Amino acid sequence: MARMNFGQTYASSWNAYIRAWRKDGRKQPPGKGVWPGDQWGTPASWQATLRELVLDRLPEASRIVEIGPGSGKYTKLMLDAYPGAEVWASDVSADYLEILRERLAAEVEAGRVLTHLIGKDHDQQRRALESHGWLGAVDCVCSFDALCHVDLGYLAGYLRLASQVLRPGGILSTMVADATSDAGHAKLMTDIRRIWPYGGKMCQCFQWVSPDIMTGLLGRLGFVVELLRSEGAYLYVVARKQ
Ligand SMILES: C[S@@+](CC[C@H](N)C(=O)[O-])C[C@H]1O[C@@H](n2cnc3c(N)ncnc32)[C@H](O)[C@@H]1O
Repeated sequence: MARMNFGQTYASSWNAYIRAWRKDGRKQPPGKGVWPGDQWGTPASWQATLRELVLDRLPEASRIVEIGPGSGKYTKLMLDAYPGAEVWASDVSADYLEILRERLAAEVEAGRVLTHLIGKDHDQQRRALESHGWLGAVDCVCSFDALCHVDLGYLAGYLRLASQVLRPGGILSTMVADATSDAGHAKLMTDIRRIWPYGGKMCQCFQWVSPDIMTGLLGRLGFVVELLRSEGAYLYVVARKQ
């Protein structure tokens, strides 16, 4: 595959991904759906992930914040699972958000999906959620296959945001990249060849953490960790706000 013209920021890099997808006439591998991101996993695997990270731990939900929803495959499953819920879907990529609004047009129209473009001000999203009346009132902050791509500073920013917006008993559910598992280590080694030419620029590669880093961060932010499970290169994490 030709090297994509990735930019230097998360936003420009993921916008470039969507523009390439649009230019390709929405070509996807056969049988893998028509929306960008649906080629990763299957409907059954998305449902299993959602069950483990969210549904089994949250009998009811009315306010959900999803970071990096992409085209919204998990967003849709959550809206179906919690018929009374609203999802605040925030992303750095304006192009990805446009696709999400296209895919979930009915839910956006019904006011069940609110989209938010994450900008360069680290506190902007917390303020927006406060203005919306959600500060300390959110049931779940979740992120699927997105925080494995952000550096530790950004990850810390989202964990801190979760600690600010979740209600006591609310959950943070996410997947990060685990450098310490066998599969994580193997991918880390394999990807050296891929990341090297970018010289440190964004390239949609994984950004690695470890169970210790997650436990340390979450404990200090007022969470009790309920799940830390390695699968492949991912670490599945659920933490409950005290
Ligand atoms: C691999 S896609 C996953 C999308 C979706 N969650 C899914 O599973 O299909 C990564 C998503 O994370 C978003 N993203 C990348 N960097 C981000 C950042 N720093 N903050 C928030 N979202 C980010 C991308 O724009 C994209 O929507």
